[in-house]
Amino acid sequence: MTQPVLVTGAAGFIGSHSVEWLLGQGGVRVVGVDNLRTGRLENLAAVRALPDFEWVLADAGDETAMRAVFQKYRPAGVLHLAALVSVPESFREPALNYRLNLAMADSLARLCLEFDCRRLVFASSAAVYGATEVLPNRESATPQPQSPYAAAKLAAEIMLLGYAASYGLEAICLRYFNVYGPRQDPSSPYSGVLSIFTERFRCGLPVTVYGDGEQTRDFIAVRDVARANGEALNRPGVASGRYNVCTGRAVSLNRVLAIYRELFPGSPPSEHAAARIGDIRHSLGDPEALRRMLGFTAETPFARALRELAHWA
Ligand code: UD1
Repeated sequence: MTQPVLVTGAAGFIGSHSVEWLLGQGGVRVVGVDNLRTGRLENLAAVRALPDFEWVLADAGDETAMRAVFQKYRPAGVLHLAALVSVPESFREPALNYRLNLAMADSLARLCLEFDCRRLVFASSAAVYGATEVLPNRESATPQPQSPYAAAKLAAEIMLLGYAASYGLEAICLRYFNVYGPRQDPSSPYSGVLSIFTERFRCGLPVTVYGDGEQTRDFIAVRDVARANGEALNRPGVASGRYNVCTGRAVSLNRVLAIYRELFPGSPPSEHAAARIGDIRHSLGDPEALRRMLGFTAETPFARALRELAHWA
Protein backbone atom coordinates (compact mmCIF):
# COMPACT_ATOMS: atom_id res chain seq x y z
CA MET A 1 0.00 0.00 0.00
CA THR A 2 1.48 3.38 -0.98
CA GLN A 3 1.89 5.97 1.74
CA PRO A 4 -0.77 8.69 1.53
CA VAL A 5 -0.29 12.42 1.47
CA LEU A 6 -1.89 14.62 4.11
CA VAL A 7 -3.73 17.80 3.17
CA THR A 8 -4.67 20.24 5.94
CA GLY A 9 -7.44 22.70 5.19
CA ALA A 10 -8.76 20.09 2.78
CA ALA A 11 -12.33 21.43 2.85
CA GLY A 12 -11.27 24.99 2.02
CA PHE A 13 -11.26 26.79 -1.30
CA ILE A 14 -7.71 25.91 -2.37
CA GLY A 15 -7.66 22.70 -0.32
CA SER A 16 -10.62 21.07 -2.01
CA HIS A 17 -9.26 21.82 -5.48
CA SER A 18 -5.87 20.46 -4.46
CA VAL A 19 -7.40 17.24 -3.12
CA GLU A 20 -9.25 16.79 -6.41
CA TRP A 21 -6.08 17.36 -8.40
CA LEU A 22 -4.11 14.85 -6.31
CA LEU A 23 -6.78 12.17 -6.55
CA GLY A 24 -7.09 12.82 -10.28
CA GLN A 25 -3.47 11.69 -10.71
CA GLY A 26 -4.41 8.14 -9.81
CA GLY A 27 -2.46 5.93 -7.42
CA VAL A 28 -2.31 8.67 -4.78
CA ARG A 29 -4.10 8.29 -1.47
CA VAL A 30 -5.11 11.50 0.24
CA VAL A 31 -5.95 12.09 3.89
CA GLY A 32 -7.86 15.37 4.17
CA VAL A 33 -7.97 17.16 7.53
CA ASP A 34 -10.13 20.17 8.32
CA ASN A 35 -11.90 21.53 11.41
CA LEU A 36 -14.52 23.29 9.23
CA ARG A 37 -13.85 26.65 10.87
CA THR A 38 -13.89 28.30 7.45
CA GLY A 39 -13.84 25.21 5.22
CA ARG A 40 -17.06 23.57 4.08
CA LEU A 41 -17.77 19.89 3.72
CA GLU A 42 -19.76 20.58 0.52
CA ASN A 43 -16.45 21.56 -1.11
CA LEU A 44 -15.42 17.91 -0.88
CA ALA A 45 -18.63 16.54 -2.41
CA ALA A 46 -16.82 15.22 -5.50
CA VAL A 47 -14.25 13.24 -3.51
CA ARG A 48 -15.81 12.21 -0.20
CA ALA A 49 -16.87 8.78 -1.43
CA LEU A 50 -13.68 7.93 -3.35
CA PRO A 51 -11.80 4.93 -1.97
CA ASP A 52 -8.46 6.78 -2.12
CA PHE A 53 -9.75 9.61 0.07
CA GLU A 54 -9.88 9.58 3.88
CA TRP A 55 -11.70 12.40 5.65
CA VAL A 56 -10.58 13.44 9.16
CA LEU A 57 -12.46 16.11 11.09
CA ALA A 58 -9.71 17.61 13.24
CA ASP A 59 -7.90 20.82 14.08
CA ALA A 60 -4.56 20.61 12.27
CA GLY A 61 -3.07 22.71 15.08
CA ASP A 62 -4.03 20.17 17.74
CA GLU A 63 -0.73 18.36 18.13
CA THR A 64 -2.17 15.41 20.03
CA ALA A 65 -4.90 14.81 17.48
CA MET A 66 -2.45 15.23 14.63
CA ARG A 67 0.09 12.89 16.20
CA ALA A 68 -2.60 10.22 16.10
CA VAL A 69 -3.26 11.04 12.43
CA PHE A 70 0.47 10.77 11.60
CA GLN A 71 0.70 7.54 13.57
CA LYS A 72 -2.23 6.00 11.74
CA TYR A 73 -1.53 7.12 8.18
CA ARG A 74 2.27 7.68 8.07
CA PRO A 75 2.00 10.33 5.36
CA ALA A 76 4.80 10.64 2.81
CA GLY A 77 4.19 14.37 2.47
CA VAL A 78 2.05 17.18 3.87
CA LEU A 79 0.32 19.96 2.00
CA HIS A 80 -0.39 22.48 4.73
CA LEU A 81 -3.18 24.83 3.71
CA ALA A 82 -5.12 25.19 6.98
CA ALA A 83 -4.84 28.81 8.09
CA LEU A 84 -6.49 31.97 9.24
CA VAL A 85 -7.16 33.34 5.78
CA SER A 86 -8.53 36.80 6.43
CA VAL A 87 -6.09 39.68 6.72
CA PRO A 88 -8.59 41.91 8.60
CA GLU A 89 -9.24 39.06 11.04
CA SER A 90 -5.50 38.87 11.69
CA PHE A 91 -5.60 42.53 12.83
CA ARG A 92 -8.58 41.85 15.11
CA GLU A 93 -7.28 38.54 16.47
CA PRO A 94 -3.46 38.62 16.48
CA ALA A 95 -3.19 35.76 18.99
CA LEU A 96 -5.38 33.53 16.85
CA ASN A 97 -3.36 34.56 13.81
CA TYR A 98 -0.17 33.57 15.61
CA ARG A 99 -1.64 30.18 16.49
CA LEU A 100 -3.13 29.36 13.11
CA ASN A 101 -0.58 30.89 10.76
CA LEU A 102 2.66 30.30 12.64
CA ALA A 103 2.37 27.84 15.56
CA MET A 104 0.36 25.34 13.50
CA ALA A 105 3.01 25.21 10.76
CA ASP A 106 5.71 24.71 13.37
CA SER A 107 3.77 21.92 15.06
CA LEU A 108 3.15 20.09 11.77
CA ALA A 109 6.80 20.46 10.75
CA ARG A 110 7.89 18.84 14.02
CA LEU A 111 5.43 16.01 13.46
CA CYS A 112 6.92 15.53 9.99
CA LEU A 113 10.35 15.18 11.59
CA GLU A 114 9.04 12.80 14.25
CA PHE A 115 7.34 10.52 11.71
CA ASP A 116 9.90 10.68 8.93
CA CYS A 117 7.64 12.55 6.59
CA ARG A 118 10.09 14.13 4.18
CA ARG A 119 8.22 16.97 2.58
CA LEU A 120 6.04 19.81 3.77
CA VAL A 121 4.49 22.19 1.25
CA PHE A 122 3.35 25.38 2.96
CA ALA A 123 0.74 27.89 1.78
CA SER A 124 2.44 31.24 2.07
CA SER A 125 1.28 34.47 0.48
CA ALA A 126 2.36 37.32 -1.76
CA ALA A 127 1.30 39.42 1.23
CA VAL A 128 4.83 38.88 2.63
CA TYR A 129 6.19 41.30 0.00
CA GLY A 130 4.08 44.10 1.46
CA ALA A 131 4.83 47.54 0.16
CA THR A 132 7.79 46.70 -2.06
CA GLU A 133 8.09 49.15 -4.93
CA VAL A 134 10.03 46.96 -7.33
CA LEU A 135 7.95 44.81 -9.67
CA PRO A 136 7.67 42.01 -10.45
CA ASN A 137 8.13 40.58 -6.96
CA ARG A 138 10.99 38.12 -6.86
CA GLU A 139 11.59 35.70 -4.04
CA SER A 140 14.93 37.37 -3.31
CA ALA A 141 13.24 40.71 -2.45
CA THR A 142 13.36 41.81 1.16
CA PRO A 143 9.89 41.09 2.57
CA GLN A 144 8.03 43.94 4.23
CA PRO A 145 4.96 42.46 5.92
CA GLN A 146 2.22 45.01 6.55
CA SER A 147 -0.19 42.90 8.59
CA PRO A 148 -0.10 40.29 11.36
CA TYR A 149 -1.18 37.84 8.65
CA ALA A 150 1.82 38.56 6.42
CA ALA A 151 4.19 38.60 9.39
CA ALA A 152 3.04 35.16 10.55
CA LYS A 153 3.28 33.70 7.05
CA LEU A 154 6.82 35.04 6.73
CA ALA A 155 7.77 33.79 10.20
CA ALA A 156 6.40 30.35 9.31
CA GLU A 157 8.49 30.29 6.13
CA ILE A 158 11.57 31.10 8.21
CA MET A 159 10.81 28.38 10.78
CA LEU A 160 10.26 25.77 8.08
CA LEU A 161 13.38 26.71 6.14
CA GLY A 162 15.29 26.61 9.43
CA TYR A 163 14.08 23.03 9.94
CA ALA A 164 15.06 22.27 6.35
CA ALA A 165 18.61 23.49 7.02
CA SER A 166 18.80 21.83 10.44
CA TYR A 167 17.12 18.47 9.89
CA GLY A 168 16.81 17.98 6.14
CA LEU A 169 13.04 18.49 6.00
CA GLU A 170 12.03 19.43 2.45
CA ALA A 171 10.17 22.68 3.06
CA ILE A 172 8.54 24.22 0.03
CA CYS A 173 6.91 27.57 0.71
CA LEU A 174 4.52 28.66 -2.00
CA ARG A 175 3.66 32.36 -2.14
CA TYR A 176 0.24 32.55 -3.71
CA PHE A 177 -0.77 35.71 -5.52
CA ASN A 178 -4.48 36.56 -6.04
CA VAL A 179 -6.18 33.19 -6.32
CA TYR A 180 -9.69 33.00 -7.79
CA GLY A 181 -12.15 30.36 -8.91
CA PRO A 182 -15.17 28.29 -7.95
CA ARG A 183 -15.89 27.84 -4.20
CA GLN A 184 -14.20 31.06 -3.14
CA ASP A 185 -16.41 32.57 -0.47
CA PRO A 186 -17.76 36.00 -1.54
CA SER A 187 -19.48 36.78 1.74
CA SER A 188 -17.11 39.31 3.31
CA PRO A 189 -16.15 42.73 1.92
CA TYR A 190 -12.56 41.47 2.13
CA SER A 191 -13.21 38.36 0.05
CA GLY A 192 -11.31 38.11 -3.22
CA VAL A 193 -12.53 40.78 -5.60
CA LEU A 194 -13.39 38.27 -8.32
CA SER A 195 -15.63 36.24 -6.02
CA ILE A 196 -17.47 39.42 -5.00
CA PHE A 197 -17.79 40.72 -8.57
CA THR A 198 -19.01 37.35 -9.88
CA GLU A 199 -21.71 37.12 -7.27
CA ARG A 200 -22.92 40.68 -7.76
CA PHE A 201 -22.98 40.55 -11.55
CA ARG A 202 -24.90 37.29 -11.37
CA CYS A 203 -27.46 38.85 -9.04
CA GLY A 204 -27.75 42.01 -11.18
CA LEU A 205 -26.32 44.15 -8.38
CA PRO A 206 -23.81 46.99 -8.88
CA VAL A 207 -20.20 46.36 -7.91
CA THR A 208 -18.09 48.85 -6.00
CA VAL A 209 -14.73 49.79 -7.43
CA TYR A 210 -12.30 51.19 -4.89
CA GLY A 211 -10.16 53.83 -6.57
CA ASP A 212 -9.97 54.36 -10.32
CA GLY A 213 -9.94 50.67 -11.29
CA GLU A 214 -6.48 50.96 -12.83
CA GLN A 215 -4.91 48.96 -9.99
CA THR A 216 -3.58 45.63 -11.24
CA ARG A 217 -3.27 42.15 -9.78
CA ASP A 218 -1.63 38.90 -10.77
CA PHE A 219 -4.78 36.75 -10.73
CA ILE A 220 -4.12 33.01 -10.77
CA ALA A 221 -6.82 30.37 -11.24
CA VAL A 222 -7.30 27.95 -8.37
CA ARG A 223 -6.94 24.99 -10.71
CA ASP A 224 -3.41 26.18 -11.56
CA VAL A 225 -2.66 26.65 -7.87
CA ALA A 226 -3.92 23.12 -7.16
CA ARG A 227 -1.56 21.77 -9.80
CA ALA A 228 1.37 23.76 -8.39
CA ASN A 229 0.57 22.36 -4.94
CA GLY A 230 0.33 18.81 -6.21
CA GLU A 231 3.52 18.99 -8.23
CA ALA A 232 5.37 20.58 -5.32
CA LEU A 233 4.23 17.71 -3.12
CA ASN A 234 4.90 14.85 -5.53
CA ARG A 235 7.86 15.77 -7.71
CA PRO A 236 11.20 14.34 -6.64
CA GLY A 237 14.12 16.72 -6.30
CA VAL A 238 12.33 19.96 -5.44
CA ALA A 239 14.66 22.20 -3.44
CA SER A 240 13.48 23.73 -0.17
CA GLY A 241 12.78 27.41 -0.57
CA ARG A 242 10.20 30.05 -1.38
CA TYR A 243 8.42 30.14 -4.69
CA ASN A 244 5.90 32.54 -6.18
CA VAL A 245 2.73 30.95 -7.50
CA CYS A 246 1.59 33.49 -10.03
CA THR A 247 1.09 34.04 -13.74
CA GLY A 248 3.52 36.93 -14.30
CA ARG A 249 0.70 38.88 -15.98
CA ALA A 250 -0.96 41.98 -14.57
CA VAL A 251 -4.70 42.51 -15.08
CA SER A 252 -6.43 45.76 -14.11
CA LEU A 253 -9.82 45.87 -12.42
CA ASN A 254 -11.10 47.88 -15.37
CA ARG A 255 -10.14 45.02 -17.67
CA VAL A 256 -11.97 42.63 -15.33
CA LEU A 257 -15.04 44.87 -15.49
CA ALA A 258 -14.91 44.98 -19.30
CA ILE A 259 -15.01 41.16 -19.38
CA TYR A 260 -17.93 41.02 -16.93
CA ARG A 261 -19.88 43.64 -18.91
CA GLU A 262 -19.60 41.43 -21.99
CA LEU A 263 -20.76 38.42 -19.99
CA PHE A 264 -23.62 40.28 -18.30
CA PRO A 265 -24.88 42.92 -20.71
CA GLY A 266 -27.34 45.34 -19.15
CA SER A 267 -25.77 45.16 -15.67
CA PRO A 268 -26.07 48.27 -13.53
CA PRO A 269 -23.14 50.70 -13.67
CA SER A 270 -20.33 50.27 -11.16
CA GLU A 271 -20.25 52.40 -8.04
CA HIS A 272 -17.03 54.13 -7.15
CA ALA A 273 -15.52 54.63 -3.72
CA ALA A 274 -12.21 55.94 -2.43
CA ALA A 275 -9.25 53.58 -2.71
CA ARG A 276 -8.95 51.32 0.33
CA ILE A 277 -6.48 52.37 2.97
CA GLY A 278 -3.31 50.37 2.53
CA ASP A 279 -4.38 49.12 -0.89
CA ILE A 280 -1.48 48.14 -3.10
CA ARG A 281 -1.60 49.79 -6.52
CA HIS A 282 0.11 47.06 -8.49
CA SER A 283 0.91 43.50 -7.54
CA LEU A 284 2.76 41.24 -9.92
CA GLY A 285 4.87 38.14 -9.35
CA ASP A 286 7.83 36.70 -11.19
CA PRO A 287 6.95 33.06 -11.96
CA GLU A 288 10.48 32.10 -13.04
CA ALA A 289 11.71 30.28 -9.91
CA LEU A 290 8.79 27.84 -9.84
CA ARG A 291 9.04 27.34 -13.59
CA ARG A 292 12.70 26.41 -13.23
CA MET A 293 12.11 24.11 -10.26
CA LEU A 294 8.84 22.41 -11.22
CA GLY A 295 8.41 23.25 -14.87
CA PHE A 296 5.25 24.99 -13.68
CA THR A 297 3.49 27.65 -15.69
CA ALA A 298 -0.06 28.87 -15.13
CA GLU A 299 -2.13 27.71 -18.07
CA THR A 300 -5.65 28.95 -17.48
CA PRO A 301 -6.59 31.83 -19.80
CA PHE A 302 -8.02 34.59 -17.63
CA ALA A 303 -11.04 35.64 -19.72
CA ARG A 304 -12.13 32.04 -20.24
CA ALA A 305 -11.81 31.23 -16.55
CA LEU A 306 -13.92 34.28 -15.66
CA ARG A 307 -16.55 33.13 -18.14
CA GLU A 308 -16.61 29.69 -16.51
CA LEU A 309 -16.77 31.25 -13.06
CA ALA A 310 -19.71 33.40 -14.12
CA HIS A 311 -21.64 30.25 -15.06
CA TRP A 312 -20.51 28.18 -12.10
CA ALA A 313 -23.42 27.28 -9.85
C1 UD1 B 1 -4.72 40.24 -1.58
C2 UD1 B 1 -5.11 39.25 -0.54
C3 UD1 B 1 -4.64 39.71 0.79
C4 UD1 B 1 -3.16 40.05 0.77
C5 UD1 B 1 -2.84 41.00 -0.37
C6 UD1 B 1 -1.34 41.14 -0.51
C7 UD1 B 1 -7.19 38.19 -1.30
C8 UD1 B 1 -8.66 38.08 -1.08
N1 UD1 B 1 -6.55 39.09 -0.52
O1 UD1 B 1 -5.40 41.43 -1.34
O2 UD1 B 1 -4.85 38.65 1.68
O3 UD1 B 1 -2.80 40.72 1.94
O4 UD1 B 1 -3.33 40.45 -1.58
O5 UD1 B 1 -0.98 41.87 -1.60
O6 UD1 B 1 -6.59 37.48 -2.08
N2 UD1 B 1 -11.71 45.76 -4.78
C9 UD1 B 1 -12.72 46.50 -5.35
N3 UD1 B 1 -14.02 46.18 -5.04
C10 UD1 B 1 -14.35 45.15 -4.21
C11 UD1 B 1 -13.29 44.38 -3.63
C12 UD1 B 1 -11.99 44.72 -3.94
O7 UD1 B 1 -12.47 47.47 -6.08
O8 UD1 B 1 -15.54 44.91 -3.98
C13 UD1 B 1 -10.32 46.09 -5.14
C14 UD1 B 1 -9.39 46.25 -3.94
O9 UD1 B 1 -9.45 47.56 -3.42
C15 UD1 B 1 -8.05 45.93 -4.58
C16 UD1 B 1 -8.39 44.88 -5.64
O10 UD1 B 1 -9.79 45.00 -5.87
O11 UD1 B 1 -7.51 47.05 -5.21
C17 UD1 B 1 -8.10 43.46 -5.19
O12 UD1 B 1 -8.68 43.27 -3.92
P1 UD1 B 1 -8.68 41.85 -3.14
O13 UD1 B 1 -9.27 40.82 -4.00
O14 UD1 B 1 -9.29 42.11 -1.81
O15 UD1 B 1 -7.16 41.47 -3.03
P2 UD1 B 1 -5.86 42.29 -2.56
O16 UD1 B 1 -6.18 43.64 -2.06
O17 UD1 B 1 -4.88 42.18 -3.68
